[in-house]
Amino acid sequence: MKDIKKAVIPVAGFGTRFLPFTKAMPKEMLPIIDKPTIQFIVEELVACGITDILLVTSSHANKRAIEDHFDQSIALEQMLTEKEKFIELKEINEISNLANIHYIRQKEIKGLGDAILCAESFIGDEPFAVILGDDIVVNDNEPVIGQLIKTYQKFNTSILGTQEVLIEDINKYGIVQLEKKKKDGKIIDIIEKPSLNIAPSNNAVLGRYILTPTIFKYLKVQKPGMGNEIQLTDAIKSLLNEEDVHICNFIGKRYDIGDKLGFIKAIIDFSLKDQNLSCDVYKYLEEIINDRNGE
Ligand code: UTP
Repeated sequence: MKDIKKAVIPVAGFGTRFLPFTKAMPKEMLPIIDKPTIQFIVEELVACGITDILLVTSSHANKRAIEDHFDQSIALEQMLTEKEKFIELKEINEISNLANIHYIRQKEIKGLGDAILCAESFIGDEPFAVILGDDIVVNDNEPVIGQLIKTYQKFNTSILGTQEVLIEDINKYGIVQLEKKKKDGKIIDIIEKPSLNIAPSNNAVLGRYILTPTIFKYLKVQKPGMGNEIQLTDAIKSLLNEEDVHICNFIGKRYDIGDKLGFIKAIIDFSLKDQNLSCDVYKYLEEIINDRNGE
């Protein structure tokens, strides 16, 4: 069995749910207090032994800001050295040394499946990890990609990270049907954003995958599906005819940063965990609630 050393993070999308911010700024740079979303994702991959990461970017919305974030900043480092701000200097240095980060542009923003296809020559003949560029999951004991890699080591197949979602949210995700209801069950069907009456379960694929390179064969011939986009879900459905695919029902608190409410929840939770901020934020939240209750 091959080790998982490479990962792909698609960051090319338009981010329409976050307009007007995403007119000229990538949503993957939305800060969770002071750290951009994309850095959480790269750190998760690095913590799980990934050494080479491909970011699939586009010419839209200054995606170059992402490249700058992971690059060295000589002028900034010089200034921090001169001012003896060594803690900040160390932090800045660490960001540019996290992993080997590579970039490719998705020429036309045609959907997640097409973005993953852009990674074919980078990946070659190896299984690889995928995390969506706007999806943070917190698990302080075991990062989610580590949970997926363990499941991959058990079955040697593609693995989709899933969690059960509320019935009203089923039509936002790829939904799987399992052979048997198990936390690492085998998938027998998968449908992108089904309506409730045809949804086979409430088990949703949430932004994290281990894929075998066979997926590229199906992505290459995949026709546009839901939303007229080339869907990764549809290519995975075709992959099921050739290879087994399992889920990993992962443990962790997920934040969809590309969604306004998901972003707000992340800011609140992360600030309440920050020892320099938590007291003041908590006090402020209490004030708001008391005002609303007329106290
Ligand atoms: P989303 O569907 O959440 O991103 O795709 P979006 O299309 O940018 O956002 P909305 O729905 O319009 O608000 C999940 C991830 O896949 C990337 C996005 O950048 C995001 O990180 N993506 C999506 C691509 O890289 N290419 C695409 O063609 C589509």
